[in-house]
Amino acid sequence: LSATPVRVAIIGAGNIARTHLLAYQANAATVVAFADVDLARARLLADEAGANAYADYREMLGAETVDAVSICTPPSSHRDAALHVLSRGLPVLCEKPLARSVDEGREIAEAARRAGVPFQIGLCHRFHSTVLRLKDLIDSGALGTPVSFRNRFATRIDNIQQSWFVDREIAGGGVILDNGVHSIDLFRFLCGEVTSVVARQSITIAGLKVEDTAALALTSERGIVGTIELSWATPGSDNAITVYGSEGQATVDYNAREIRFQLAGQNDWTREGESAPNRFTREISHFLECVRTGGQPSPGLGDGLRALEVIAQAYVSAKAG
Ligand SMILES: NC(=O)c1ccc[n+]([C@@H]2O[C@H](COP(=O)([O-])OP(=O)(O)OC[C@H]3O[C@@H](n4cnc5c(N)ncnc54)[C@H](O)[C@@H]3O)[C@@H](O)[C@H]2O)c1
Repeated sequence: LSATPVRVAIIGAGNIARTHLLAYQANAATVVAFADVDLARARLLADEAGANAYADYREMLGAETVDAVSICTPPSSHRDAALHVLSRGLPVLCEKPLARSVDEGREIAEAARRAGVPFQIGLCHRFHSTVLRLKDLIDSGALGTPVSFRNRFATRIDNIQQSWFVDREIAGGGVILDNGVHSIDLFRFLCGEVTSVVARQSITIAGLKVEDTAALALTSERGIVGTIELSWATPGSDNAITVYGSEGQATVDYNAREIRFQLAGQNDWTREGESAPNRFTREISHFLECVRTGGQPSPGLGDGLRALEVIAQAYVSAKAG
């Protein structure tokens, strides 16, 4: 069975859909169809892949024989698309965030439990090679007892006013939801379950109706304290995760494409570059393995849902602040 190429359909044919296409191809899977409400976009990627193009995903899944589906639309359509794909009993790889809200996320989780098929959430940083190395350094005790976690994900997005990212109806929130979902998942992945979160937010870009900048402070079940900084308004920013332990420290530096660490008794820093394949190719390799075996992926629905719950708490805190 593993020799048979998995046949995949992709819903939404924008930026991340192309990344999924390349990652499926790198894993010898066949993308047979794309659906996008903007048919021209579906056609563009379909031509690149030698696939078929549709304007409506229901029509696509009625016409095509597929083994699995990627959902690559903005968050406002994740629930309806996921419910439809699950009603057909097909495995899902759904882009982050799982949905716009905890309630929508719970509806998806209910439907997925009933369908009993693999459901992966696109929290792709769990597959980033230097993040995996950092997890090894923590779990092996090489840093001693982990004490503090610090993460900044930030950039400046030109013409952000024109993008759906800042439309609350489509995105479900601002930078805390869009980018913070990765940060919160990384904190959970590396430091354990979140036990509390407080947040502050700001709108620094004129005309925006959602937060473009935020800071979060969290604690984990292991007693690790984390800080997360997010912004869409700062060019040339650091993009990094640092974990400080009782015996050493390590930084995943996305800009320098490396991890550097200093362990107990060492004066020198060790630097290791990122290793291939990239995080999306690894993410989709894991999904395809679950499609073949019927196993439940990690990160799965519980991770997608828990991140939404923490984000909801962060918004309550940020609004009160
Ligand atoms: N994992 C990551 O690192 C990462 C990176 C970028 C985006 N994303 C996520 O991927 C999703 C898509 O983001 P993007 O940057 O590719 O957006 P995009 O705007 O480039 O593409 C989205 C596409 O979906 C289409 N679409 C909208 N509603 C639809 C519907 N109901 N049916 C079919 N098609 C529909 C749009 O026409 C558009 O072509 C978002 O949830 C985003 O958060 C994840």
